[in-house]
Amino acid sequence: MFKKVLVKELVSLKNSTSFKMGGKARYLVVANDEEDLKGALELSSGVGLPWVVLGGGTNLLLADGVLNYIFIRLGKGFVGVRALEGGLLEVGAGTPVERLVRLKPYEFSIFFGLPGTVGGGLKGNAGVRIGNRYVGLLDACERVRVMRRDGEVAWVEAEALPKGYRYSGIDGIILSAVFDPERLREFWGIIPQRPVVEPFPNAGCVFKNPSPEWSAGRLIDELGFKGVRRGDAMVSRLHANFILNVGDARFEDVMGLVEEIQDKAKRERGIDLELEIQVIR
Ligand code: EPU
Repeated sequence: MFKKVLVKELVSLKNSTSFKMGGKARYLVVANDEEDLKGALELSSGVGLPWVVLGGGTNLLLADGVLNYIFIRLGKGFVGVRALEGGLLEVGAGTPVERLVRLKPYEFSIFFGLPGTVGGGLKGNAGVRIGNRYVGLLDACERVRVMRRDGEVAWVEAEALPKGYRYSGIDGIILSAVFDPERLREFWGIIPQRPVVEPFPNAGCVFKNPSPEWSAGRLIDELGFKGVRRGDAMVSRLHANFILNVGDARFEDVMGLVEEIQDKAKRERGIDLELEIQVIR
């Protein structure tokens, strides 16, 4: 039934995430085209396990042990950039954001330093704050090609999405997107400063900022967490919204820190810190 799609079993995912931690995929599908993806979705309903797209793995915290999911990795068939008429670009979901940023003569420099793939970045509307405004990848987009949960493929207009800070409203698997550099005209030439380059594996900012005025990093810093450690998981001394894997961190170590930080933020400041990273357990 699932002949067309190559399925691997019990594959370690440790090196598939920037955190360099976590267990094994019950199933892993490397998809190179839409048919492969449909096969993965069929497998998912056939065996009754949910699916997860790995993306660049830069925003993922995986539990240890066997993870009962169909993990989907977008292969080479989803990587690449194609020029369309009118100065538009169609970019495959598996393309690193960095490749888009470096693409000449286009002006995507505002997204300099964003890790991961275009698909993952669009899913979470990754972006930067410029003054009072949040500029996400979706702001540079005209439309996004999405495979819905039932396997149907459709173009979704970016304008129609309820997008916001670290939120896209896109449901399904992102296949590609059409970018229009003109949409970013007012930001051409701006290269945001990368906040920190950590020497240890991590998944970027762990929590969303509680409000546009409030940095979760600043809050966690003020609560005294810099350098606090559980096992091999440690709150960064450079930016307190980063948790580092300083050796062989366990999922429980990271979650222990996460919960400790959330409890203290609630108790002492009345602030609910919401996770930005995706936790798979
Ligand atoms: N700050 C502290 N202590 C800290 C961290 C920050 O006092 O430990 C202060 C800084 O000195 C600064 C303020 O807090 O005055 C804001 O810090 P920053 O400029 O680093 O911005 P942020 O709001 O903490 C956001 C994004 C980052 C992104 C930076 C720069 C979120 C959750 N984080 O951080 O994104 O790199 O702006 O654009 O929105 C990520 O998504 O993985 C990420 C790191």
